[in-house]
Amino acid sequence: MATPRKTRVAVLISGRGSNMVALIEAAKDPTYPAEIVLVLSNRPDAAGLARAAEAGIPARAIDHTTFTDRASFDSVLDAELRAADIDLVCLAGFMRIFTPSFVAGWAGRMLNIHPSLLPLFKGTRTHKQALDAGVRLHGCTVHFVVPELDAGPIVAQAAIPVRQGDDPDSLADRVIVQERRLYPAVLALVASGRARLEDGRVVIAESAPDGALLSL
Ligand code: GRF
Repeated sequence: MATPRKTRVAVLISGRGSNMVALIEAAKDPTYPAEIVLVLSNRPDAAGLARAAEAGIPARAIDHTTFTDRASFDSVLDAELRAADIDLVCLAGFMRIFTPSFVAGWAGRMLNIHPSLLPLFKGTRTHKQALDAGVRLHGCTVHFVVPELDAGPIVAQAAIPVRQGDDPDSLADRVIVQERRLYPAVLALVASGRARLEDGRVVIAESAPDGALLSL
């Protein structure tokens, strides 16, 4: 029997790309249901571009500063993704807001990782927001992307305890470890069809390992 085609994934970054590296590493497993075929950055100086190229993945920048408006940047990005026959887009530290029409074109096929337990602490400086709020649990979330920032249906989360004496950097150091575990696990679920968006909610198949996400 022919092997089913792997889900073709593009990872979008703006910075160092450590979540991107985690996805690339996971996808090296021959049984992994997705392959990372393209890395794009809106910033030519993103350190992650070189890391992707080292891993043999086509990686290029589409410099957003060379566009006069958001829609024209989004349409070039969209054309690149479609030219590469991308099935699923993973945002990994991609620091650009999309136009609603770009998001609509990738509805149910675009994931983001956010460094907080959504719906708490949207936007930036999430670790400081968590400390200021005095929460005892913090973490990260992978969600489908919708036009509203950090508001899409949640696929999975990983939590860490907030310790006495934590500062934003120490929290970030522990959350990023969980991000790099959670994102490859979620991509596998979505790429294999075991997690999908149905009527705006995430449905996880019975066959997905029960509690596996909670124990991440
Ligand atoms: C991560 O914390 C991600 O959740 C946030 O930006 C950071 C990117 O880190 N959106 P990296 O570029 O993946 O190392």
